[in-house]
Amino acid sequence: MAESTATEHTRRTVLKTAAVTAGGAALLPRTAEAAPEQVVEHVEGAARITLKVNGERHAVQVEPRVTLLDALRERLKLTGTKKGCDRGECGACTVLVEGERVKSCLTLAVMRQGAEITTVEGLADGDRLHPVQEAFIKHDAFQCGGCTSGQIMSAVACVREGHTGSDEEIRQWMSGNICRCACYQNIVAAVADVAKGAGR
Ligand code: FES
Ligand code: FES
Repeated sequence: MAESTATEHTRRTVLKTAAVTAGGAALLPRTAEAAPEQVVEHVEGAARITLKVNGERHAVQVEPRVTLLDALRERLKLTGTKKGCDRGECGACTVLVEGERVKSCLTLAVMRQGAEITTVEGLADGDRLHPVQEAFIKHDAFQCGGCTSGQIMSAVACVREGHTGSDEEIRQWMSGNICRCACYQNIVAAVADVAKGAGR
């Protein structure tokens, strides 16, 4: 019994460590915040736009060709959103725009001015993880973590949309998010668990 408790403790410690080192920023609350309305950088020939991310407004300088993904990662330093394929195929870059899933590598930052954008850094409530983040840890729903923030953002929307009637339905509505580590069974279990808690 004592050995089993020690093993469980070690397993959870490894998971938490993985959460920090391998894309697991997806599972952790934000610790450093950019100041609201801060002009982060001046870029020659760029337009000044305002992005509303995780409830805060940020004035940024971006060229019109800059994707929302690059604006989040390079300008606002919100690196929880990952760049996988950079061409709309993997879902690693998924964020919520006005509550809807968007692949941020496929949309331009200038097109999203004023919209409510939520990234994985905006999910936790202080030190309390979002239920989807908790469920991903509980069900070991990640390995390398490369896809995890995108999976979590997609899962949040999937539950909210109510596309969780069966494992098959969850698989279908999460199919835009690829996991090279093939954690699909665990991801579906995590989503189903949250949906159950949400009364579905
Ligand atoms: Fe956007 Fe792959 S990085 S879909
Ligand atoms: Fe490695 Fe999904 S956990 S790609």
